[in-house]
Amino acid sequence: MIQFILNNQTVETDLPKGATVLDFVRYHKNLKGTKIGCREGDCGACTILVGELKGGAVEYRTQTSCLMPLANARGKHIVTVEGINRADGELTEVQRAMVDESGTQCGFCTVGFVMSLTGFCIDETEKNYEQSISAIDGNICRCTGYKSIERAAFRICDAVTRRRSDDAEKSNESNIKAGSLSDRKGANSETFDFAMSKDIVPDYFSEIKNRLVELHTGNPKSQIPNPKSFVGGGTDLYVQRPEEMIHGSAQNLFDDTALRFIEENGEFVEVGASATVTDLLASPIFQNLFPNLQKHLKLVSSTPIRNMATLAGNFVNASPIGDMTAWFLALDAAIIFNTRREIPLREFYLGYKTLAKTEDEFITKIRFRRNFSHFNFEKVSKRTYLDISSVNTAISLRVENDLIIDAHVSAGGVAPIPLYLWKTSEFLRGKEISGETISQVNEILQTEISPISDVRGSADYKRLLLRQLFIAHFVELLGFELSI
Ligand SMILES: Cc1cc2nc3c(=O)[nH]c(=O)nc-3n(C[C@H](O)[C@H](O)[C@H](O)COP(=O)(O)OP(=O)(O)OC[C@H]3O[C@@H](n4cnc5c(N)ncnc54)[C@H](O)[C@@H]3O)c2cc1C
Ligand code: FES
Ligand code: FES
Repeated sequence: MIQFILNNQTVETDLPKGATVLDFVRYHKNLKGTKIGCREGDCGACTILVGELKGGAVEYRTQTSCLMPLANARGKHIVTVEGINRADGELTEVQRAMVDESGTQCGFCTVGFVMSLTGFCIDETEKNYEQSISAIDGNICRCTGYKSIERAAFRICDAVTRRRSDDAEKSNESNIKAGSLSDRKGANSETFDFAMSKDIVPDYFSEIKNRLVELHTGNPKSQIPNPKSFVGGGTDLYVQRPEEMIHGSAQNLFDDTALRFIEENGEFVEVGASATVTDLLASPIFQNLFPNLQKHLKLVSSTPIRNMATLAGNFVNASPIGDMTAWFLALDAAIIFNTRREIPLREFYLGYKTLAKTEDEFITKIRFRRNFSHFNFEKVSKRTYLDISSVNTAISLRVENDLIIDAHVSAGGVAPIPLYLWKTSEFLRGKEISGETISQVNEILQTEISPISDVRGSADYKRLLLRQLFIAHFVELLGFELSI
């Protein structure tokens, strides 16, 4: 039996835990406001808000309900558009902005946009125009009225920031950034008070925290004895094997708190296997280590998918173009299993989708040394946002006095597996940074890859692309000007 709060009602269901939240709300609760578009996480028509208790507050994030197993709703607050509608039938601030700015059009995708923009108002992200647009990066409108939707997003952002800067003035705060994990608790009740006063969410949201605390005590997680398959956020599995997932017996790892952390431990940074891409974005540790974190991770999927996509899911899916895999290969990360076995990520990939792991092993954590001085990630895809890579690459370097002391380079989309470039990395170590070094590296790099021609480009194009992206690492990191 799975219990959670759906809008303003506590519900329980004995449907299979692998059934999707989308099907539950539409076909079992008759809440038809949540739409079905692609069922693959691409269109955003099924976007809902998911609230969960974190550090004494309720944190809301958007998710695509078509890829979300019911098991991942356990003990949470699931909000569909019916749950934000006003009792008096009037429009909420977000709905009003969409209508006034002519953002509704045929209406099909509109609910998804409304949910994403409502999420923007109550989540922990910084409130600015850029973030308001970023909040709808997982929503596709086939009527293509993006400019009017963009105007609605700006108007909502104005409404939120105006009030917030008033509050900041009152409390003599100069900066009302709600981004850091440490101030989330304080920001939360203020955020809800504001959201309720502005009719962004209904008043019952103020009671959700206490209701979730109560719910947690009587809502144990289901543990499968000796599990042989696992599911994290479901963003790969529910696209690849949706039917099988519904009745399958995979162990759900997404909400295992022992797998959901990011911490420093001596010379290492350790990350729980179920940490999501959004968790990395929100982590002060990652923000300090990676100055371009926002820029780089915004190239990975979309806001709702980043809210669900776990690191272990990305590694184990073993796609040759997995972005987080390329990222952590270049950090020379190690993965640690439930059996306590530890192996370098670079030794995890034996062949296409063949992994150095037994079927009952699952990843518990990932760790890497923070002894690099430079890190860069490059990705080229057909569309800049919400698209998988044609080719990606990442690099970490330890540079002292223009000498490369240590180097790790990865590349995706140029072989059947995500590649750690052994020879390239080895060649760079001990070299001075110069145009000559970089042009020599390209010759070695080209011997390590074996791209094939496919819909994402010809083999020759991918070779050229990787060469250019490799140079881009040095241009980006060291302001290097190259004439090769
Ligand atoms: C619309 C869309 C856009 C996307 N865009 C991108 C993109 O830009 N870049 C990118 O890299 N990916 C992208 N993806 C792919 C996907 O989001 C990522 O690969 C994600 O990290 C998978 O994580 P998950 O938790 O959802 O995996 P799941 O689907 O839950 O699982 C994937 C695999 O990992 C296994 N697994 C999960 N957790 C563990 C564990 N702890 N130990 C062992 N095995 C485990 C599962 O058994 C399964 O085999 C996209 C997906 C969608 C739907
Ligand atoms: S139906 Fe398209 S993202 Fe879920
Ligand atoms: S309003 Fe018609 S698809 Fe967006």
